[in-house]
Amino acid sequence: MAESQGNDENVLDRILTLELARVTERAAVAAARLRGRGDEKAADQVAVDAMRRELNQLPIDGTVVIGEGERDEAPMLYIGEQVGTKAGAKVDIALDPLEGTTICAKNMPNSLAVIAMATAGGLLNAPDSYMEKIAVGPGYPEGVIDLDRPILENLKSVARAKGVEVEELTVCVLDRPRHAKLIDDIRACGASIYLIGDGDVAGIIHTTDTEQTGIDLYVGIGGAPEGVLAAAALRCIGGQMQGRLVITREEQVERAKRMGITDTNRKFSLEELAGGDVLFAATGVTDGNFLKGVKFASSGVKTHTVVMRSTSGTVRYIEARHAHADKF
Ligand code: FBP
Repeated sequence: MAESQGNDENVLDRILTLELARVTERAAVAAARLRGRGDEKAADQVAVDAMRRELNQLPIDGTVVIGEGERDEAPMLYIGEQVGTKAGAKVDIALDPLEGTTICAKNMPNSLAVIAMATAGGLLNAPDSYMEKIAVGPGYPEGVIDLDRPILENLKSVARAKGVEVEELTVCVLDRPRHAKLIDDIRACGASIYLIGDGDVAGIIHTTDTEQTGIDLYVGIGGAPEGVLAAAALRCIGGQMQGRLVITREEQVERAKRMGITDTNRKFSLEELAGGDVLFAATGVTDGNFLKGVKFASSGVKTHTVVMRSTSGTVRYIEARHAHADKF
């Protein structure tokens, strides 16, 4: 699709895509300074502070729809917080200044600073609950996966479309006791499992570059906010994803209702999770399968960021050297 659709009011100024890199870079550098220190909270806090500072300099009239929590729980970047200079387009923002706080605290792979922006109303206002998710990368026929099918059916369907045996597929799953049966079922089908300790935004993005990551599918239950962020990335790169909220408490039903979700059993499509013109950016905090982590050197601080946009389908990798990152 052409990138020059700037007159359409449903399309964001394309320059914002690059501006977003600065936002995730700052958060990632801040968090990286506390990498491996075993203090999740401190690493998250500095990332939040840095992201918020940078976000407030953007020429947008932004509303955080996926953030650090409800206003009474999170003093900064809470759901509903207005961000930006107000001088630009009305946008919805989903963010996670430090996705994979535990990974960062342990200095293990794939923690990210992540943000997605969409035309107002584009992002699902998901409550802070779990979400059942299934995702594959681009190049498959529409409908190749379905959350309602047994896992064996999904594996057979993906294998058939890829032209391989189920035994040759690798499925990314969060290593959690709640997934014990799912893991047994996948192994019983003969497929391989790539277990991750945390970080399913990266896990889902990994399905979009199977050659590089070796991962064909993502399946399982993770955070609902992370589901919206991953969907935003897939809208830009391509791929298929479905999600359904996992609501276990009455207060979560109420919270979902307040956020405009009346049917909490609804199976959300990729476009329902992240619709309209979507921008996405992520900077590696620790080294990962698709982004390098922040490097501190005498010549400055190096960051590795991916920025993407759904309308154009552009995916750009930005390696930056920040000579004065001490001023971040
Ligand atoms: P945090 O960055 O908030 O620590 O989230 C990490 C994460 O692994 C997400 O990627 C994932 O969606 C969620 O936690 C899973 O939740 P839980 O750890 O409760 O299983």
